[in-house]
Amino acid sequence: MLHQTKSYFRYLKKAKGAHGVHSPFVFDLMRQVFDTKDRFYAFEAIELIRKQLILDNRKIEINDLGAGSKKGNNKTKTVSKIVKSASKPPKYGQLLFRLANYFQVTNALEIGTSLGISTAYIAKARKIADITTLEGDSNIAQIAKENFNKLKLNNVTLVKGNFDETLPLFVKDKKKIDFVFFDGNHTQKSTLNYFKQCLSKTHNNTIFVFDDIYWSEGMTKAWKEIKTHNKVTTTVDIFQMGIVFFRKELPKQHLVIKY
Ligand SMILES: C[S@@+](CC[C@H](N)C(=O)[O-])C[C@H]1O[C@@H](n2cnc3c(N)ncnc32)[C@H](O)[C@@H]1O
Repeated sequence: MLHQTKSYFRYLKKAKGAHGVHSPFVFDLMRQVFDTKDRFYAFEAIELIRKQLILDNRKIEINDLGAGSKKGNNKTKTVSKIVKSASKPPKYGQLLFRLANYFQVTNALEIGTSLGISTAYIAKARKIADITTLEGDSNIAQIAKENFNKLKLNNVTLVKGNFDETLPLFVKDKKKIDFVFFDGNHTQKSTLNYFKQCLSKTHNNTIFVFDDIYWSEGMTKAWKEIKTHNKVTTTVDIFQMGIVFFRKELPKQHLVIKY
């Protein structure tokens, strides 16, 4: 917690608005993706599902394969508790939607589905894209599937199993990957492992989004190592998430921006 608080104060000191950013690429991104108030019809439908999940008191057995939650790792949880603790809040789900939309992503991978809220934002943004999402817990995955059906998402493939098995198979099968949202098993070692696996299928316009880069000291170390990788050019830190670009036409620079 202390690490998060300290990191947040550091972030607040450094974070710049669009006018303090000299990169034209990031300036446009901020104007059109971060700072816009545009709303899309899909947002309401997804938020309605979230409301239903918050009221859902079904108790399910869970088998946490990841770093877990700092609020306790009970084996049985209500759906309501899971959605409140694991699903990205609307602000960040909507950012994923805008990123996928702005960059015209045609295939995306999400590492960590949970109940499918962030998946739904990515999938609704790009109905013609293929979205694959990985989840290790069968009971949670079952509810995510219910949500995809309610939202009529036909472009999502949910792969059940431990990332240690499902990610290598996914990567092996793909020629290239446009977009990855890393949101499961927040440890330094796993994050770097997933990063390196996905790196083998990047292209010039691929985007990686890492959640919870200040969740722990380990996650921040992983983020630092990712930024220095020689394939990475520009990165954008919005505290909750870190966004990585590989575009060769961009300079190697690490921007901290207000969001
Ligand atoms: C933070 S939640 C994902 C939240 C989701 N992206 C959202 O915002 O709506 C992370 C999920 O990853 C799953 N997970 C963690 N470690 C895993 C592993 N090693 N293999 C498979 N699933 C894992 C957990 O079961 C959990 O549902």
